[in-house]
Amino acid sequence: MRTSQLVAQGAQRLGSAAESKTLLAHVLGVEPASLPLIIEVSDAHAAAFAALLERRRAGEPVQHLTGRAFFRGVSVAVGPGVFIPRPETELLVQWALDALGAHPGRPAEAAGHEGPSAPVVVELCAGSGAISLALASECPGLVQYAVEVSDDAWPYLVRNVTGTALQPVLGDMADALSELDGTVDLVIANPPYIPESARSELPADVLRDPDMALFSGPDGLEALRVVASVATRLLRSGGVLGAEHDDTHHESAPNVLRAAGFVDVVDHLDLAGRPRYVTARVPDLSPGRMGP
Ligand SMILES: C[S@@+](CC[C@H](N)C(=O)[O-])C[C@H]1O[C@@H](n2cnc3c(N)ncnc32)[C@H](O)[C@@H]1O
Repeated sequence: MRTSQLVAQGAQRLGSAAESKTLLAHVLGVEPASLPLIIEVSDAHAAAFAALLERRRAGEPVQHLTGRAFFRGVSVAVGPGVFIPRPETELLVQWALDALGAHPGRPAEAAGHEGPSAPVVVELCAGSGAISLALASECPGLVQYAVEVSDDAWPYLVRNVTGTALQPVLGDMADALSELDGTVDLVIANPPYIPESARSELPADVLRDPDMALFSGPDGLEALRVVASVATRLLRSGGVLGAEHDDTHHESAPNVLRAAGFVDVVDHLDLAGRPRYVTARVPDLSPGRMGP
């Protein structure tokens, strides 16, 4: 069968030409951009494509069908059991890259090295590791740790960071990495943040993500409170935290960070103008500084 015909059929069935191309390209083992170079598709490939269309129509996320998700410049393995990284989180990564440019590591004497030391970055609630991998690819040379508690998400994280210098850590963020206390330059997190009360309003495809990745107590802020407390433990004086939050948390998320002792607390909007992530700094108490 002709490739263009199959793409058109798939687009009609799914209501999305992009998804149709992604799935057919996956079946053929090529990039979607290469599809126009393939004129004919074998019967076996056409049957495999038809099966994927059925599964997609039944509600399986495209990323589960292909086993991959794209986030900024990186591709990560995903599937049932791990959160699919979302495009809105890419803004939080941009903030971190900017902050790392502005805070390129601790002073040499504090780190005990001759030259400036590499910035130490901890990701809490790492899931697939997409945030950490994007940071690693766009800011090489960081010393990075990625903490994840879920046994289901863990194999994806390990698989995605294998071959990189990134160190995955299995465990509850509440007591992770105590050996780094007071030394970390930047903590980043996309914690679960949906209020339990919003469960019934969520679209079915969102509910395909694991509960542990989505929900965070009655107000959606339980995990953020832990993130804030862990970050105050891990961060050096002057270190920074960035955390994504629900769009209903425009005031409450910044208040959580202020209550934990952070200063310079700023809430940021996403590209659709919705409150999306909060950033803050531990007061700078290094000698010679007057503090915030
Ligand atoms: C919204 S997902 C984010 C995953 C990934 N950072 C991303 O943006 O694609 C939240 C993740 O936090 C993990 N998580 C929840 N509670 C945790 C805890 N106490 N300690 C460590 N990880 C936790 C969940 O298992 C899930 O993988």
